[in-house]
Amino acid sequence: MTFKTPIDRLPTSSNKWNKYAERDILPLWVADMDFTSPPSVIAALQERVAHGVFGYTDPPASLFEAVQTYAAKHYGWQIEADWIVWLPGLVQGINLACRAVGEPGDAVVTATPVYPPFLRAPGLAGRELIKVPLVDRDEDWGWDFAAFDAAIPPNAKLLLLCHPHNPVGRAWRKDELEQILAIAKKHDLLVCSDEIHCDLLLDADLKHTPFASLDPDFAARTITLLAPSKTWNLAGLGCAFAVIPDAALRARCRRETLGLTPSVNLLGYTAAEAAYRDDGKWLAELLATLRGNRELLREWFAQSSKLKITLPEATYLAWIDARAIDPINPLPIFEAHGVGLSDGRDFGLPGYVRLNFGCPRVLLEKALQRMEPLR
Ligand SMILES: Cc1ncc(COP(=O)(O)O)c(C=O)c1O
Repeated sequence: MTFKTPIDRLPTSSNKWNKYAERDILPLWVADMDFTSPPSVIAALQERVAHGVFGYTDPPASLFEAVQTYAAKHYGWQIEADWIVWLPGLVQGINLACRAVGEPGDAVVTATPVYPPFLRAPGLAGRELIKVPLVDRDEDWGWDFAAFDAAIPPNAKLLLLCHPHNPVGRAWRKDELEQILAIAKKHDLLVCSDEIHCDLLLDADLKHTPFASLDPDFAARTITLLAPSKTWNLAGLGCAFAVIPDAALRARCRRETLGLTPSVNLLGYTAAEAAYRDDGKWLAELLATLRGNRELLREWFAQSSKLKITLPEATYLAWIDARAIDPINPLPIFEAHGVGLSDGRDFGLPGYVRLNFGCPRVLLEKALQRMEPLR
């Protein structure tokens, strides 16, 4: 019953639930899910906790092996253990990429709307941010490759790619990735690809293609950011990693973190290894639950005259055009109706909101009932 029964997260200082602890607002904002992690992960954590000694810990060799085996099996991607750099969070990897590629004053390109740290990281690293708008094609969002190509200035050194894309929910197809690759080659860009949502593909016929796997030569110009945290709901355990095939780029990334970044929490390593070794039954049930919730959204929004939803192919996040309710800031209106969403302005698009449907269906139904007057 893991996926059906609501779990009280308020006593756990949950970021998501605490925000509205004093108000009757259902939190469907920050990207974690209201589900327990796989039993195998919980058992591995319990076993590690029972050991009772929590000293400084290296990532175990068996964890590298688990990640390599998983990547080969699920994406047909061969990675070497040496290429993996462990990080206490994936956002750190986005910031690291901006610091480790080029020099202050160079430009970083990204496609918007996008996960807010993509918009902040270039400036924090003294880089110029170049935003290339994705195009709303009604059913889904896509690239305007000509505009993308034209927008890249000569001082651009890095492309930050979100694949699958948060918040528009696209799992980029191979032909789209090939076009991105061609543009990156033309402009001599490095590509940092955030693939944190890559195991949350909701359509059965979709398969994740790591950007770095497209072209063996270009792989040396890539940083792939991955983590078990979205798929197996482990965000609070702070464990992510970068795959950086080029030794010099890897060394520069490591140098940027020296003395500043703590190593990953040992429970993060434990959970990550158990997750990558899990038998997949939990994940199959999760995906079925998310598909069911997406159907519910499809039906509900089909009847809406004011709100327009983009149903994601991947992620448990839905992007909603709410400009008819308020062209700049519709969020407080949803809150006034008892539903807490993410503010589109943080993603670079006013008038939009993002809804997290990684929760038991009953909770989503309740939220939709509350939103009825806005439909
Ligand atoms: C695209 C993307 N990257 C990174 C993260 C967060 O990664 P972390 O919590 O490991 O910093 C998220 C969380 O929502 C995300 O959607």
